[in-house]
Amino acid sequence: MKIESLYTPHKPAMRALVEAIHQEQGMLPQFYWPMDMLGAEMASAEAVGIFEGEELAGFVLYREVPGAWEISLVATHPKFRRRGFMEALIKHLIAAKGQGLELWLEVHEANHSAQKLYEKLGFSLTGRRPRYYKDGATALLYSRP
Ligand SMILES: CC(C)(COP(=O)(O)OP(=O)(O)OC[C@H]1O[C@@H](n2cnc3c(N)ncnc32)[C@H](O)[C@@H]1OP(=O)(O)O)[C@@H](O)C(=O)NCCC(=O)NCCS
Repeated sequence: MKIESLYTPHKPAMRALVEAIHQEQGMLPQFYWPMDMLGAEMASAEAVGIFEGEELAGFVLYREVPGAWEISLVATHPKFRRRGFMEALIKHLIAAKGQGLELWLEVHEANHSAQKLYEKLGFSLTGRRPRYYKDGATALLYSRP
């Protein structure tokens, strides 16, 4: 596996990966990324991806905010799940972020696999935003120094 920053030429592969997730699980509130929203987020966020050979196995979108890097999207292609790709990619981000910055993210209360991932990587639950998602669910806020 290799980890690289992603740029405009990688956007079709990022879109295809998100479409594969939608095909697998439907457009769930816990991963609600219609293509127009994804395009807007990709236009304004940084992206880093993890590859198996030449194939994009997973990627993360994030942006620098005061005091932190805020992660907005975390996705592993269904066929590459549970092989440690996202764990490796987020560990890379933890090592790459500037000294003194935190990593922040939010996750749907029903997204237990993502919560397990973040907890394994040392993130702590720091807050809740009730009725944050379109289905009325709560967002759990996680951060890691
Ligand atoms: C959540 C997601 C990114 C995990 O990616 P992944 O590459 O399969 O994760 P990894 O293989 O690196 O797993 C690392 C750890 O995360 C946890 N984890 C990952 N998937 C899990 C699952 N389905 N159930 C329970 N724990 C899980 C485990 O602790 C795992 O370690 P282990 O395999 O040693 O038990 C992936 O399932 C995904 O893309 N889901 C759909 C999109 C999504 O919901 N994104 C998050 C919100 S933006």
